Amino acid sequence: MLCSFASFDDAGIYKLSKDLALVQTIDFFTPVVDDPWVYGAVAAANSLSDIYAMGGKPLTALSIAAFPPQGDFTILEQIMAGGIEKLKEAEVHLLGGHTIQDKEMKFGYAITGTIHPQRIVTNSVARVGELLILTKPLGIGIITTGIKLQKASSEAIKRVSEVMMELNRRASQIMLRYGVSAATDVTGFGLLGHCCEMAAASNISLELYFPEIPVIPDAWELAKERVFAGGLLANRSFFGERVKLAPSLKEEEGALLFDPQTSGGLLIASPRKGADRMVSELRRSGIEAKIIGRVIEKKRKEIYVRDESLT
Ligand code: CO
Ligand code: CO
Repeated sequence: MLCSFASFDDAGIYKLSKDLALVQTIDFFTPVVDDPWVYGAVAAANSLSDIYAMGGKPLTALSIAAFPPQGDFTILEQIMAGGIEKLKEAEVHLLGGHTIQDKEMKFGYAITGTIHPQRIVTNSVARVGELLILTKPLGIGIITTGIKLQKASSEAIKRVSEVMMELNRRASQIMLRYGVSAATDVTGFGLLGHCCEMAAASNISLELYFPEIPVIPDAWELAKERVFAGGLLANRSFFGERVKLAPSLKEEEGALLFDPQTSGGLLIASPRKGADRMVSELRRSGIEAKIIGRVIEKKRKEIYVRDESLT
């Protein structure tokens, strides 16, 4: 039986029996960092993320690669090695893959996992009064754009690589233990785009508290210089109408919330009870989790970004 979750998430689900379904996803992209090993590891963490966001357990992977005909194949080997290391950490088996020739390098994975059909975490069931938790800092797109323009410092490159390589596995396991039913991963649409999707799918609005939102520190400098990915401007023009930013926010502050993320964190809507404990547990596991907002009744705009802290 085929279940359609078209309006919810990036992964497809195929029900095998009453208590077992397949969950499948595919993701691949052009290099985001210069280090081929890191690029491979990021591609793996990113491809696994949709499965983790839905509360699934990834099992197997197939690689998909495009590589220039005159390219140095030891680079492709390093990319594959980085990917395999991450898959190992995730206890996912690489079954094979396919490589084609193309002018521009691309790499990623198709992932297959399992999920209980009655315990699928989606972005469509966020409820009024719940708190929003984000598990990775923002600024990934701005810093990777900075890398392409040779404007990112070596510390920024190191930090953004760590953030992108971090699996959402632990965060997913912890959220499942707290009985969370609404979550998504923050990727190409940026924090505000994915918030808009959650608000629309759940028929609610969201209130975010700007000072609570974690950002990789180096991203601020680059944002002030308007080192914006093309996707940031596209997100802002696509989702901007649905968002009300506090007028006191500076241009770069608002812009950063539309920054497209590669292998970003989970955005979790958690019942108030247990949210603090969940965040402490996430932080004890080395995850930079923060409560960044709350779910409110549906209003005219889908997202309201306030300039005060959460009280
Ligand atoms: Co995806
Ligand atoms: Co996703």
